[in-house]
Amino acid sequence: MGRTAMVSDSDTSKWDCPPHTKAKHDMLGRYLDGWFPILSSWNGRVVFLDGFAGRGRYNDGAEGSPLVALRHLLDHRYFPQMRHREFVFYFVEANRDNAESLLKEVEAFKTERAPWPAKVRVHVVNEKFDVTANSILDTLREQKRNLAPTFAFVDPFGYSGLPMDLLAALLSYPRSELFVNFMVGHVQRFITRDGQENAMRSLFGMDVRDVLNGFSEEADRVEHLRAVYGRQLQERVGFDHVQSFAMLNSTGNIGYYLFHGTRHRAGVKLMKDAMWKIDPGGGFTFSDRLAGQDVLFTPEPDLRPLRAEILRHFSGRQGVPVSEIEWHAILYTPYRETHVRPVLRPLEQDGVIAVRRPAGKRQFADGVTINFP
Ligand SMILES: C[S@@+](CC[C@H](N)C(=O)[O-])C[C@H]1O[C@@H](n2cnc3c(N)ncnc32)[C@H](O)[C@@H]1O
Repeated sequence: MGRTAMVSDSDTSKWDCPPHTKAKHDMLGRYLDGWFPILSSWNGRVVFLDGFAGRGRYNDGAEGSPLVALRHLLDHRYFPQMRHREFVFYFVEANRDNAESLLKEVEAFKTERAPWPAKVRVHVVNEKFDVTANSILDTLREQKRNLAPTFAFVDPFGYSGLPMDLLAALLSYPRSELFVNFMVGHVQRFITRDGQENAMRSLFGMDVRDVLNGFSEEADRVEHLRAVYGRQLQERVGFDHVQSFAMLNSTGNIGYYLFHGTRHRAGVKLMKDAMWKIDPGGGFTFSDRLAGQDVLFTPEPDLRPLRAEILRHFSGRQGVPVSEIEWHAILYTPYRETHVRPVLRPLEQDGVIAVRRPAGKRQFADGVTINFP
């Protein structure tokens, strides 16, 4: 289950492209702009795996995630320097009609971009994500090889077919990353329904009983499920850094969470940059939480939660480099590094912090340190 009964995944009513889907694609594309060159500078081969790839194009003509990924590679200003590396794209789509449509879109794109670069290999696979991922893993085991660094984009309509254990096996390579759409609305509706135990155990990699452990009926169930899923990505898949962004619709309800998992702090920084550059609007915003408060990703964000967090975390510390405060903001708050100086400036003006500037250093340049009360 986990999908609307009686509506097929190829039904055209499912292929409208609302603004938040466009924003999700924008975020994916911006992230890949940073990820492709970093990864290909270290590795001969890089894999982009779209596990729930879709039809390739939406009703309004907007490109689906597979074309977004291909376009961001081929149009990249450093593509000429990257083209001697191998880029392998797996677009996995279970629905036959959708897979056929996707294949046509990919072929048309290749024709448009002829001559197609020899080292960019594209596979459209009409199969379920879990079946495909298992067969990739079996082949690698037979050949005693490791999977190349992989960026997996997992974007289902529901909550079935993306087992936690499989994500763990697939993404064990240290440079692999995950961007997954966690459909929390469906999960919270169905988690206690009879017949959903196996689907939920597979999704979370633990029994429903354990998922709901410690949850009281008065608490926010959606927030609880977010926390458990994020913890599982950390503990089971082994991502050091897991961030989640809520898609808030116009009624203030959470439609889904986008989770990003990586083992590198540079990846967190890149995803934060991509997230904060998204143009909100069209009746939705993305948000995250800090100390129980929602932080909305808007052009003029409320910086008060960041100010409070910086004062709390660095309380009593002397000689703290500005870069340490910036990394703290990136890794442990919803904010990015560009939000730190606008917080430090008024703190200095109000005499709350003392700033030590070596001769010749301006503002909060490298070498400037802060004493906290
Ligand atoms: C939300 S859509 C994907 C949208 C696409 N990622 C994009 O951004 O353009 C989910 C797709 O997953 C397909 N699907 C459903 N179950 C699947 C499974 N177990 N494995 C692979 N694809 C599946 C559906 O047919 C549908 O096309």
